Amino acid sequence: MTVRIPPFAVVPGSQVHQVLSGQEEHVIALIEAAYRVHGEGDTVNPPSYFLRFPDRPSSRIIALPASIGGQSKVDGIKWISSFPENIEAGIPRASAVVVLNDQATGYPIACMESSIISAARTAASAALAADVLTKERGRPRRIGFFGTGFIARYIHTYLHGAGWTFDEVGVHDLDLEHAGGFRSYLARSGATGQVTVHERAEDLIRSSDLVVFATVAGTPHVTDPGWFSHHPVVLHVSLRDLAPAVILESANIVDDIEHCLKADTSPHLAEQQTGNRDFIDGTLYDVMTGRTAVPAGRTVVFSPFGLGVLDLAVSKYVYDRVAAEGTLKVVDDFFHETSRYGDDPAKTPGPAGGGAGGGHA
Ligand SMILES: NC(=O)c1ccc[n+]([C@@H]2O[C@H](COP(=O)([O-])OP(=O)(O)OC[C@H]3O[C@@H](n4cnc5c(N)ncnc54)[C@H](O)[C@@H]3O)[C@@H](O)[C@H]2O)c1
Repeated sequence: MTVRIPPFAVVPGSQVHQVLSGQEEHVIALIEAAYRVHGEGDTVNPPSYFLRFPDRPSSRIIALPASIGGQSKVDGIKWISSFPENIEAGIPRASAVVVLNDQATGYPIACMESSIISAARTAASAALAADVLTKERGRPRRIGFFGTGFIARYIHTYLHGAGWTFDEVGVHDLDLEHAGGFRSYLARSGATGQVTVHERAEDLIRSSDLVVFATVAGTPHVTDPGWFSHHPVVLHVSLRDLAPAVILESANIVDDIEHCLKADTSPHLAEQQTGNRDFIDGTLYDVMTGRTAVPAGRTVVFSPFGLGVLDLAVSKYVYDRVAAEGTLKVVDDFFHETSRYGDDPAKTPGPAGGGAGGGHA
Protein backbone atom coordinates (compact mmCIF):
# COMPACT_ATOMS: atom_id res chain seq x y z
CA MET A 1 0.00 0.00 0.00
CA THR A 2 1.38 3.42 -0.91
CA VAL A 3 1.04 5.91 1.90
CA ARG A 4 0.88 9.51 0.73
CA ILE A 5 0.92 12.81 2.53
CA PRO A 6 -2.64 14.09 2.25
CA PRO A 7 -3.30 17.65 1.10
CA PHE A 8 -3.83 20.30 3.77
CA ALA A 9 -6.84 22.60 3.50
CA VAL A 10 -8.18 25.66 5.27
CA VAL A 11 -11.95 25.65 5.74
CA PRO A 12 -13.23 29.16 6.51
CA GLY A 13 -16.37 30.00 8.48
CA SER A 14 -18.27 30.89 5.29
CA GLN A 15 -17.96 27.29 4.04
CA VAL A 16 -18.81 25.84 7.47
CA HIS A 17 -21.89 28.07 7.63
CA GLN A 18 -22.96 27.15 4.12
CA VAL A 19 -22.73 23.40 4.85
CA LEU A 20 -24.46 23.51 8.25
CA SER A 21 -27.27 25.98 7.74
CA GLY A 22 -30.65 24.31 7.55
CA GLN A 23 -29.07 20.96 8.52
CA GLU A 24 -30.21 20.97 12.16
CA GLU A 25 -31.85 17.55 12.08
CA HIS A 26 -28.89 16.01 10.30
CA VAL A 27 -26.43 17.49 12.81
CA ILE A 28 -28.55 16.20 15.71
CA ALA A 29 -28.39 12.73 14.13
CA LEU A 30 -24.59 13.07 13.79
CA ILE A 31 -24.33 14.00 17.47
CA GLU A 32 -26.55 11.09 18.49
CA ALA A 33 -24.29 8.75 16.49
CA ALA A 34 -21.19 10.30 18.11
CA TYR A 35 -22.62 9.73 21.61
CA ARG A 36 -23.32 6.11 20.67
CA VAL A 37 -19.79 5.59 19.31
CA HIS A 38 -18.42 7.16 22.52
CA GLY A 39 -20.72 5.01 24.69
CA GLU A 40 -19.58 1.90 22.81
CA GLY A 41 -15.94 2.77 23.52
CA ASP A 42 -14.80 3.54 19.95
CA THR A 43 -13.37 6.97 20.87
CA VAL A 44 -10.43 8.45 22.70
CA ASN A 45 -11.38 11.59 24.57
CA PRO A 46 -8.79 12.68 27.15
CA PRO A 47 -9.55 15.50 29.61
CA SER A 48 -9.77 18.99 28.14
CA TYR A 49 -6.79 21.19 28.96
CA PHE A 50 -7.62 24.67 30.32
CA LEU A 51 -4.95 27.29 29.55
CA ARG A 52 -5.43 30.22 31.96
CA PHE A 53 -3.49 33.47 32.38
CA PRO A 54 -2.54 35.06 35.73
CA ASP A 55 -2.70 38.55 34.19
CA ARG A 56 -6.06 37.92 32.43
CA PRO A 57 -8.06 35.82 34.90
CA SER A 58 -11.38 36.06 33.05
CA SER A 59 -9.94 34.59 29.85
CA ARG A 60 -9.05 31.03 28.91
CA ILE A 61 -8.22 28.83 25.93
CA ILE A 62 -9.32 25.18 26.07
CA ALA A 63 -7.74 22.31 24.10
CA LEU A 64 -9.99 19.33 23.37
CA PRO A 65 -7.95 16.56 21.68
CA ALA A 66 -9.93 13.52 20.56
CA SER A 67 -10.21 10.57 18.22
CA ILE A 68 -13.45 9.10 16.91
CA GLY A 69 -14.19 5.84 15.10
CA GLY A 70 -17.60 4.90 13.70
CA GLN A 71 -18.45 6.68 10.45
CA SER A 72 -16.18 9.67 11.14
CA LYS A 73 -12.78 7.95 11.65
CA VAL A 74 -10.67 10.99 12.32
CA ASP A 75 -8.32 12.38 14.99
CA GLY A 76 -7.92 16.03 15.90
CA ILE A 77 -8.23 18.85 18.36
CA LYS A 78 -10.46 21.83 19.04
CA TRP A 79 -8.69 24.93 20.36
CA ILE A 80 -11.29 27.36 21.67
CA SER A 81 -10.76 30.75 23.35
CA SER A 82 -13.11 32.55 25.68
CA PHE A 83 -12.29 36.27 26.15
CA PRO A 84 -15.41 37.73 27.83
CA GLU A 85 -14.19 41.34 27.49
CA ASN A 86 -14.54 40.98 23.70
CA ILE A 87 -18.27 41.56 24.14
CA GLU A 88 -17.69 45.19 25.21
CA ALA A 89 -15.93 45.73 21.90
CA GLY A 90 -18.88 44.23 20.05
CA ILE A 91 -17.06 41.08 18.90
CA PRO A 92 -17.89 37.50 19.90
CA ARG A 93 -16.58 36.16 23.22
CA ALA A 94 -15.45 32.80 21.83
CA SER A 95 -13.31 31.95 18.81
CA ALA A 96 -12.10 28.53 17.73
CA VAL A 97 -10.33 26.31 15.25
CA VAL A 98 -10.43 22.55 14.77
CA VAL A 99 -7.45 20.73 13.29
CA LEU A 100 -8.34 17.37 11.73
CA ASN A 101 -5.64 14.69 11.46
CA ASP A 102 -5.58 11.83 8.98
CA GLN A 103 -5.76 8.47 10.79
CA ALA A 104 -3.35 6.76 8.36
CA THR A 105 -0.40 9.20 8.51
CA GLY A 106 -1.21 11.50 11.44
CA TYR A 107 -0.85 14.46 9.08
CA PRO A 108 -3.18 17.40 9.64
CA ILE A 109 -5.62 17.52 6.74
CA ALA A 110 -7.53 20.67 7.67
CA CYS A 111 -7.69 23.73 9.85
CA MET A 112 -11.32 24.75 10.17
CA GLU A 113 -13.09 27.78 11.61
CA SER A 114 -14.96 26.26 14.52
CA SER A 115 -17.01 28.79 16.46
CA ILE A 116 -19.95 27.68 14.31
CA ILE A 117 -19.04 23.99 14.58
CA SER A 118 -18.74 24.30 18.36
CA ALA A 119 -22.07 26.14 18.71
CA ALA A 120 -23.77 23.69 16.35
CA ARG A 121 -22.59 20.60 18.21
CA THR A 122 -23.49 22.17 21.58
CA ALA A 123 -26.96 23.11 20.36
CA ALA A 124 -27.48 19.74 18.68
CA SER A 125 -26.49 17.98 21.90
CA ALA A 126 -28.97 20.13 23.88
CA ALA A 127 -31.77 19.46 21.37
CA LEU A 128 -31.00 15.74 21.44
CA ALA A 129 -31.07 15.75 25.26
CA ALA A 130 -34.38 17.65 25.28
CA ASP A 131 -35.81 14.95 23.04
CA VAL A 132 -34.34 11.96 24.89
CA LEU A 133 -35.17 13.28 28.38
CA THR A 134 -38.78 14.24 27.63
CA LYS A 135 -39.82 11.21 25.55
CA GLU A 136 -41.52 9.53 28.49
CA ARG A 137 -42.41 12.65 30.49
CA GLY A 138 -44.20 14.47 27.65
CA ARG A 139 -43.05 17.43 25.57
CA PRO A 140 -42.62 20.72 27.48
CA ARG A 141 -44.81 23.58 26.19
CA ARG A 142 -43.00 26.36 28.10
CA ILE A 143 -39.30 27.00 27.52
CA GLY A 144 -37.11 29.47 29.41
CA PHE A 145 -33.72 30.80 28.29
CA PHE A 146 -31.49 31.78 31.21
CA GLY A 147 -28.67 33.72 29.49
CA THR A 148 -29.33 34.90 25.96
CA GLY A 149 -26.04 34.97 24.03
CA PHE A 150 -24.69 33.09 21.05
CA ILE A 151 -25.26 29.58 22.44
CA ALA A 152 -28.85 30.31 23.54
CA ARG A 153 -29.60 31.50 19.99
CA TYR A 154 -28.10 28.33 18.49
CA ILE A 155 -30.04 26.10 20.90
CA HIS A 156 -33.27 27.83 19.94
CA THR A 157 -32.40 27.47 16.23
CA TYR A 158 -31.73 23.75 16.69
CA LEU A 159 -34.94 23.10 18.64
CA HIS A 160 -36.90 25.07 16.03
CA GLY A 161 -35.14 23.25 13.18
CA ALA A 162 -36.00 19.90 14.79
CA GLY A 163 -39.67 20.82 14.82
CA TRP A 164 -40.16 21.89 18.44
CA THR A 165 -42.92 24.41 19.11
CA PHE A 166 -43.75 26.18 22.38
CA ASP A 167 -46.73 28.06 23.78
CA GLU A 168 -44.52 30.26 25.94
CA VAL A 169 -40.90 31.37 25.60
CA GLY A 170 -39.37 32.98 28.70
CA VAL A 171 -36.19 35.04 28.53
CA HIS A 172 -33.90 36.20 31.33
CA ASP A 173 -30.48 37.83 31.20
CA LEU A 174 -28.47 39.95 33.64
CA ASP A 175 -28.13 42.42 30.79
CA LEU A 176 -31.54 43.64 29.60
CA GLU A 177 -30.08 44.71 26.27
CA HIS A 178 -29.02 41.10 25.61
CA ALA A 179 -32.50 39.88 26.57
CA GLY A 180 -34.01 42.45 24.19
CA GLY A 181 -31.68 41.38 21.37
CA PHE A 182 -32.71 37.75 21.90
CA ARG A 183 -36.34 38.76 21.86
CA SER A 184 -35.84 40.47 18.47
CA TYR A 185 -34.08 37.36 17.18
CA LEU A 186 -37.08 35.26 18.29
CA ALA A 187 -39.45 37.58 16.41
CA ARG A 188 -37.29 37.32 13.24
CA SER A 189 -36.95 33.53 13.52
CA GLY A 190 -40.66 32.96 12.98
CA ALA A 191 -40.78 30.74 16.08
CA THR A 192 -44.04 30.11 17.87
CA GLY A 193 -44.92 31.11 21.44
CA GLN A 194 -45.69 34.12 23.57
CA VAL A 195 -42.37 35.74 24.51
CA THR A 196 -41.90 37.18 28.02
CA VAL A 197 -38.75 38.84 29.34
CA HIS A 198 -38.46 38.05 33.06
CA GLU A 199 -36.44 40.45 35.15
CA ARG A 200 -36.34 37.99 38.04
CA ALA A 201 -34.54 34.66 37.61
CA GLU A 202 -37.04 32.95 39.89
CA ASP A 203 -39.96 33.96 37.65
CA LEU A 204 -38.26 32.52 34.57
CA ILE A 205 -37.58 29.17 36.23
CA ARG A 206 -40.98 28.84 37.86
CA SER A 207 -42.73 29.49 34.54
CA SER A 208 -40.68 27.06 32.39
CA ASP A 209 -40.92 23.29 31.91
CA LEU A 210 -37.69 23.25 29.89
CA VAL A 211 -34.98 25.60 31.23
CA VAL A 212 -31.85 26.33 29.18
CA PHE A 213 -28.88 27.74 31.10
CA ALA A 214 -26.42 29.49 28.76
CA THR A 215 -24.79 32.15 30.94
CA VAL A 216 -21.11 32.79 31.55
CA ALA A 217 -21.41 32.48 35.35
CA GLY A 218 -18.27 31.05 36.99
CA THR A 219 -19.92 30.20 40.31
CA PRO A 220 -23.46 29.12 41.28
CA HIS A 221 -26.06 31.87 41.49
CA VAL A 222 -29.25 29.75 41.52
CA THR A 223 -29.35 28.31 45.00
CA ASP A 224 -32.98 27.62 45.97
CA PRO A 225 -34.25 24.12 45.08
CA GLY A 226 -37.77 25.46 45.76
CA TRP A 227 -37.69 27.33 42.40
CA PHE A 228 -37.74 23.87 40.74
CA SER A 229 -40.73 22.47 42.67
CA HIS A 230 -42.62 21.99 39.36
CA HIS A 231 -39.83 19.57 38.26
CA PRO A 232 -38.67 20.99 34.92
CA VAL A 233 -36.07 19.47 32.60
CA VAL A 234 -32.96 21.67 32.80
CA LEU A 235 -30.34 21.87 30.03
CA HIS A 236 -27.45 23.10 32.13
CA VAL A 237 -25.19 23.96 29.20
CA SER A 238 -23.18 26.63 31.05
CA LEU A 239 -22.45 24.06 33.81
CA ARG A 240 -21.76 26.39 36.78
CA ASP A 241 -25.11 28.09 37.51
CA LEU A 242 -26.69 25.66 39.96
CA ALA A 243 -25.74 25.35 43.61
CA PRO A 244 -25.03 21.82 44.89
CA ALA A 245 -28.36 21.94 46.81
CA VAL A 246 -30.22 22.16 43.47
CA ILE A 247 -28.10 19.42 41.89
CA LEU A 248 -28.60 17.11 44.87
CA GLU A 249 -32.41 17.51 44.75
CA SER A 250 -32.47 16.57 41.05
CA ALA A 251 -31.91 13.55 38.84
CA ASN A 252 -28.60 14.22 37.08
CA ILE A 253 -27.66 13.15 33.59
CA VAL A 254 -24.25 14.05 32.10
CA ASP A 255 -22.49 13.42 28.79
CA ASP A 256 -19.45 11.77 30.39
CA ILE A 257 -19.04 11.35 34.15
CA GLU A 258 -15.24 11.69 34.31
CA HIS A 259 -15.30 14.83 32.18
CA CYS A 260 -18.21 16.53 33.88
CA LEU A 261 -16.97 16.09 37.43
CA LYS A 262 -14.07 18.49 36.86
CA ALA A 263 -13.29 22.20 36.57
CA ASP A 264 -15.70 23.32 39.31
CA THR A 265 -18.86 22.52 37.39
CA SER A 266 -21.97 22.36 39.59
CA PRO A 267 -21.88 18.51 39.62
CA HIS A 268 -18.18 18.72 40.56
CA LEU A 269 -19.04 21.04 43.48
CA ALA A 270 -21.78 18.60 44.56
CA GLU A 271 -19.23 15.78 44.49
CA GLN A 272 -16.83 17.84 46.60
CA GLN A 273 -19.62 18.57 49.10
CA THR A 274 -20.88 15.01 49.44
CA GLY A 275 -17.66 13.08 48.84
CA ASN A 276 -19.44 10.77 46.38
CA ARG A 277 -21.03 10.56 42.94
CA ASP A 278 -24.24 8.85 44.01
CA PHE A 279 -26.30 11.82 42.79
CA ILE A 280 -25.35 11.10 39.14
CA ASP A 281 -28.06 8.93 37.57
CA GLY A 282 -26.20 8.19 34.33
CA THR A 283 -25.13 9.50 30.96
CA LEU A 284 -27.28 10.55 28.03
CA TYR A 285 -26.07 7.37 26.30
CA ASP A 286 -27.41 5.36 29.27
CA VAL A 287 -30.81 6.99 28.79
CA MET A 288 -30.66 6.48 25.00
CA THR A 289 -29.97 2.78 25.47
CA GLY A 290 -32.56 2.28 28.23
CA ARG A 291 -30.02 1.65 30.99
CA THR A 292 -31.14 4.71 32.94
CA ALA A 293 -34.78 5.71 33.32
CA VAL A 294 -35.78 9.37 33.54
CA PRO A 295 -37.96 9.92 36.61
CA ALA A 296 -41.28 11.72 36.03
CA GLY A 297 -41.74 13.40 39.41
CA ARG A 298 -38.29 15.01 39.77
CA THR A 299 -36.33 17.83 38.23
CA VAL A 300 -33.92 16.42 35.64
CA VAL A 301 -30.66 18.30 35.06
CA PHE A 302 -28.55 17.54 31.97
CA SER A 303 -24.98 18.84 32.38
CA PRO A 304 -22.97 18.35 29.15
CA PHE A 305 -19.27 19.02 29.64
CA GLY A 306 -18.84 19.10 25.88
CA LEU A 307 -16.79 16.33 24.30
CA GLY A 308 -14.12 16.85 21.65
CA VAL A 309 -15.49 13.82 19.76
CA LEU A 310 -18.65 15.82 18.99
CA ASP A 311 -16.56 18.59 17.41
CA LEU A 312 -14.70 16.03 15.33
CA ALA A 313 -17.93 14.37 14.14
CA VAL A 314 -19.38 17.68 12.92
CA SER A 315 -16.04 18.91 11.52
CA LYS A 316 -15.49 15.72 9.53
CA TYR A 317 -19.00 15.97 8.10
CA VAL A 318 -18.33 19.57 6.99
CA TYR A 319 -14.90 18.64 5.59
CA ASP A 320 -16.32 15.70 3.61
CA ARG A 321 -19.13 17.84 2.18
CA VAL A 322 -16.75 20.62 1.11
CA ALA A 323 -14.37 18.02 -0.38
CA ALA A 324 -17.24 16.32 -2.26
CA GLU A 325 -18.26 19.69 -3.75
CA GLY A 326 -14.67 20.11 -4.97
CA THR A 327 -14.29 23.45 -3.16
CA LEU A 328 -11.63 22.58 -0.56
CA LYS A 329 -9.13 25.44 -0.27
CA VAL A 330 -5.97 23.35 -0.34
CA VAL A 331 -2.73 25.07 0.70
CA ASP A 332 -0.22 23.74 -1.81
CA ASP A 333 3.25 23.01 -0.45
CA PHE A 334 2.07 23.42 3.17
CA PHE A 335 4.37 20.53 4.11
CA HIS A 336 7.81 21.30 2.75
CA GLU A 337 9.76 18.31 4.08
CA THR A 338 7.99 15.54 2.23
CA SER A 339 10.75 12.94 2.12
CA ARG A 340 12.35 11.27 5.15
CA TYR A 341 15.88 11.58 3.71
CA GLY A 342 15.44 14.99 2.13
CA ASP A 343 15.89 13.39 -1.31
CA ASP A 344 12.74 14.66 -2.97
CA PRO A 345 14.15 15.95 -6.30
CA ALA A 346 11.60 18.74 -6.41
CA LYS A 347 12.89 20.10 -3.08
CA THR A 348 16.66 19.60 -3.51
CA PRO A 349 18.65 22.74 -4.38
CA GLY A 350 20.06 22.41 -7.88
CA PRO A 351 23.57 23.39 -9.00
CA ALA A 352 22.47 26.98 -9.48
CA GLY A 353 21.10 27.03 -5.93
CA GLY A 354 17.48 26.77 -7.14
CA GLY A 355 15.08 26.07 -4.33
CA ALA A 356 11.76 24.46 -3.63
CA GLY A 357 9.49 23.68 -6.51
CA GLY A 358 12.17 24.51 -9.10
CA GLY A 359 11.92 21.07 -10.67
CA HIS A 360 14.78 21.84 -13.07
CA ALA A 361 17.44 19.54 -11.60
N1 LIG B 1 -21.25 22.58 27.69
C1 LIG B 1 -20.81 22.84 26.48
O1 LIG B 1 -20.52 21.97 25.69
C2 LIG B 1 -20.66 24.27 26.04
C3 LIG B 1 -20.27 24.55 24.73
C4 LIG B 1 -20.17 25.87 24.32
C5 LIG B 1 -20.44 26.89 25.23
N2 LIG B 1 -20.78 26.57 26.51
C6 LIG B 1 -21.05 27.60 27.50
O2 LIG B 1 -22.24 28.27 27.16
C7 LIG B 1 -22.21 29.53 27.81
C8 LIG B 1 -22.79 30.61 26.93
O3 LIG B 1 -21.92 30.86 25.84
P1 LIG B 1 -22.24 32.05 24.82
O4 LIG B 1 -21.25 31.93 23.72
O5 LIG B 1 -23.67 32.07 24.51
O6 LIG B 1 -21.86 33.32 25.73
P2 LIG B 1 -22.32 34.82 25.50
O7 LIG B 1 -21.29 35.64 26.19
O8 LIG B 1 -22.63 35.06 24.06
O9 LIG B 1 -23.70 34.92 26.29
C9 LIG B 1 -23.84 34.74 27.67
C10 LIG B 1 -25.04 35.52 28.16
O10 LIG B 1 -25.28 35.22 29.53
C11 LIG B 1 -25.60 36.41 30.23
N3 LIG B 1 -25.28 36.20 31.64
C12 LIG B 1 -24.07 36.09 32.20
N4 LIG B 1 -24.20 35.82 33.51
C13 LIG B 1 -25.50 35.73 33.78
C14 LIG B 1 -26.27 35.43 34.93
N5 LIG B 1 -25.68 35.19 36.10
N6 LIG B 1 -27.62 35.43 34.83
C15 LIG B 1 -28.23 35.70 33.65
N7 LIG B 1 -27.55 35.97 32.51
C16 LIG B 1 -26.21 35.98 32.58
C17 LIG B 1 -24.76 37.47 29.55
O11 LIG B 1 -25.29 38.77 29.76
C18 LIG B 1 -24.86 37.04 28.08
O12 LIG B 1 -25.98 37.61 27.44
C19 LIG B 1 -20.77 29.76 28.26
O13 LIG B 1 -20.68 29.52 29.65
C20 LIG B 1 -20.00 28.69 27.53
O14 LIG B 1 -18.84 28.29 28.23
C21 LIG B 1 -20.91 25.28 26.93
